[in-house]
Amino acid sequence: MPEESTPRRERKRTVQQMVVVGIIATAIGIAIGLTIHWFPPADSTQADKIDTLWDVLIIATVPVFVLVTVIVCFAVIEFRMRPGEENLDGPPIHGNTRLEVIWTAIPAILIVGLVTYAYVVMRDIEEAPAAGNERVVTVTGQQFAWSFAYNEGGKRFTTAQLYLPAGKSVKFDVKSKDVIHDFWVPDFRMKIDAVPGITTHYRVTPKNPAAIGDHAIVCAELCGLGHAFMRQTAHILAPAEFDKWVQKMTAKPAAGGGGGGGGGAAVNAKQLFTSGNASTGATACATCHTLADAGAQGQVGPDLDKVLKGKDAAFIKESILDPNKVIAPGYQPNVMPPNFGDTLSAEQVDALVKYLSTVTNK
Ligand code: CUA
Repeated sequence: MPEESTPRRERKRTVQQMVVVGIIATAIGIAIGLTIHWFPPADSTQADKIDTLWDVLIIATVPVFVLVTVIVCFAVIEFRMRPGEENLDGPPIHGNTRLEVIWTAIPAILIVGLVTYAYVVMRDIEEAPAAGNERVVTVTGQQFAWSFAYNEGGKRFTTAQLYLPAGKSVKFDVKSKDVIHDFWVPDFRMKIDAVPGITTHYRVTPKNPAAIGDHAIVCAELCGLGHAFMRQTAHILAPAEFDKWVQKMTAKPAAGGGGGGGGGAAVNAKQLFTSGNASTGATACATCHTLADAGAQGQVGPDLDKVLKGKDAAFIKESILDPNKVIAPGYQPNVMPPNFGDTLSAEQVDALVKYLSTVTNK
């Protein structure tokens, strides 16, 4: 057997082995990529097309990843330095035009193809429904809560939780009052920045009936210390239930807990503490604070059983309306929403102050 033909034959065998390894790895990679549940349930009509796009991207990119990895492995094994070759120079290589054209053209075609496909999907899912068939909800981000403004048949109201009917298209007008936030309902897949000074948009159609139920709303842009707590709920209702909810929200507000005397007001305040005031966008205190009497265990803000002990009503009121005035040791300013004076009525603030003053000074 001639001396120089042995390495060449070996190399050919290695290439064949690498091709086999590459094909097997590609098949396994694509199978795993398509089996894993990457996303939460697809609960909007837009979600299906986005998930399909993702699957196509997996099928297109796994072979590229495997090809690159296999070539790197092949080169490392095949062209490694052997003992005695320490001072040898590599062969002089001056390029290979045909190879360079190929490895530029193939990725370029692949990328143009995928970009075109993604563009078509995006144009598809952003298409407006027939005029008049759409509800517009204005979503406003503010450190650290979302609020949702409706205009239902000319009646306007704002809520802290999102309610939508299943099967109907909704266009979100997304705004911000302070810094950049990002409005995202993972189950619907769509997501967009809320940027101060401009209004951004997207539309979704929650599936009917698959989407009926609760879905997490999260802020997807780091916006400050309370970013991780900027989470609310999208309630998707059957259309008839949604109409009932709209009626409830647009009906004249019933006289609040004033009628029940002292005890009634206390119950009212406790409920306010644990649940907030959805109709005006007031965040629940219990989301962030600990208070034994209300069973609240929030860790974001100070433990009210401790910091309010021995404090008078005036201090408590000031802490609710102007939270940055006195900051408890170990906590940061600008975490607590500064707008409780707007989102709570004067009666609600007074009831909260009375309640907090009572339960923290037992
Ligand atoms: Cu708002 Cu993160």
